[in-house]
Amino acid sequence: MLEQVKTIAVDGPSASGKSSVSKGVAAELGFIYVDSGALYRGVTWQAIRKGADPQDAKAVVDAMHAADWHFFVQDGAAIFSIDGDVPVQELREKDVREAVADVAVIPEVRTFVVESLRTLKNFGSLVMEGRDIGSVVFPDSPYKFYLDADPEERAMRRYRELVAAGEDEKAHEVMESLKKRDQIDSTRKTDPLVVAPGAHKIDSTSMTLDEVIETIVGAVKGNS
Ligand code: DC
Repeated sequence: MLEQVKTIAVDGPSASGKSSVSKGVAAELGFIYVDSGALYRGVTWQAIRKGADPQDAKAVVDAMHAADWHFFVQDGAAIFSIDGDVPVQELREKDVREAVADVAVIPEVRTFVVESLRTLKNFGSLVMEGRDIGSVVFPDSPYKFYLDADPEERAMRRYRELVAAGEDEKAHEVMESLKKRDQIDSTRKTDPLVVAPGAHKIDSTSMTLDEVIETIVGAVKGNS
């Protein structure tokens, strides 16, 4: 019998460890890793480079629809090009980081991203990290996980990441910006960050990365 395509949803707030965990789970299971936030960042990046004000929903949506998007798999991860360019580092830069939460609340942007994410199943089994993967993108998946950690721990993780990336950041500013992102992500009208029905909740505050990965891999294998 043909092996069925599986979708593993890993949701949770900023800096909850979703990326490292999802990459680890994908590597262990041989699935394709998908960073759904990268698409919201891609829409934001495209809007900015086309001179659209990220606060102007119509301008953002026009820039998004006018662009030529292509999705493909490279080194075990799903990535995309926009008008022939593949933004990677650009998506992490400050202008995108600061505007993306506003762009991600635009309903047309969410529709476009959710539909694009669903098409990635054509590439094979996926581990997709995000905020609404278990609740909106793949609500029927039996493999839904909600990763959380204490806000202080998440702020410290994000701070260490930024410092390692050479950013000149202050710990208390990272804490403030994380709180602001949590607030926007959990209170927005369209697809707020919620624990999807049936999701397996994992508090990673005092777990190692490997422990979290093994918890998910074990649950998926036990359920297959
Ligand atoms: O995970 P991230 O920091 O790259 O996410 C960037 C933004 O996109 C953040 O404001 C949350 C939003 N997002 C979302 O609304 N839904 C997703 N599935 C993924 C990200």
